[in-house]
Amino acid sequence: MRITAIISLHQVSYTYDKLAETSILSSLSLQAHSGEFASIIGASGSGKSTLFKLMAGLLQPSLGEIRLHGKPAPNRLGKIAYMPQKDLLLPWRTILGNCQLPLELTCSNPHYTTIQIMELLERFGLAGYEQAYPDELSGGMRQRAAFLRTLVTGQELLLLDEPFGALDAMTKRGMHKWLLELWSDLGKTVLFITHDLEEAILLSDRIYLLPSAANEAQGMQEIVVPLPRPRHYEQNYEPDFIKLRQDLERRLHAQTSN
Ligand SMILES: Nc1ncnc2c1ncn2[C@@H]1O[C@H](COP(=O)(O)OP(=O)(O)OP(=O)(O)O)[C@@H](O)[C@H]1O
Ligand SMILES: [Mg+2]
Repeated sequence: MRITAIISLHQVSYTYDKLAETSILSSLSLQAHSGEFASIIGASGSGKSTLFKLMAGLLQPSLGEIRLHGKPAPNRLGKIAYMPQKDLLLPWRTILGNCQLPLELTCSNPHYTTIQIMELLERFGLAGYEQAYPDELSGGMRQRAAFLRTLVTGQELLLLDEPFGALDAMTKRGMHKWLLELWSDLGKTVLFITHDLEEAILLSDRIYLLPSAANEAQGMQEIVVPLPRPRHYEQNYEPDFIKLRQDLERRLHAQTSN
């Protein structure tokens, strides 16, 4: 029996400019199943962030349909946790104050209490920074705080738009280890945008490659990552990993060189 996807996109097209002849996204279909980690890669400007805004309900498709748990979901805003490309922490609120925001926005039946947020701050390596302001934190710490705030929404599906894009290689490595452990503990479903192919392979069960505007007709490509879990960095140097990376590089190059 096929399990219903948490989210599914059916032939979704989108254009910001209704008068434009071509769409930013054209007839795209994809899905994510419970507990899965899937990445989305593609050239800059291919529409990855737009795709997340559509999923989160900030935008509506020009054509096609988005379903949650198999049902059409035109009112999906607030039902999916979304961490935008910029961390968007409020500079005038403390780290604790920022992480409490989802509690204030969901007055009835919030998913977390302040005590639980304090516990999570410790787990996220932010103990002692509850009363600090975002500009007093390092890049990695800010990303963890923004991620914590995304988690506190209590939603099952997390959309993370290049959460580690601005971090140096070593910090990123630490964040990968941390995210993989957290993901396996929490059982959340994650969709993750990245430009970093090694990151996509290390973290994901599946990778979607978004076509560039010039290759719209090709549609979305789906690549399964069959590497065993738990994953760790040493796998980067194993033949299966290298083969996957070469395959992704070739596909991406074919997309961007036309
Ligand atoms: N609010 C907007 N109004 C008009 N056009 C927009 C808007 N936001 C994005 N675009 C355009 O839509 C296209 C896709 O943008 P998007 O931000 O989704 O790309 P992306 O794949 O996330 O790029 P990057 O990898 O650089 O983050 C780009 O051509 C961009 O200029
Ligand atoms: Mg983007």
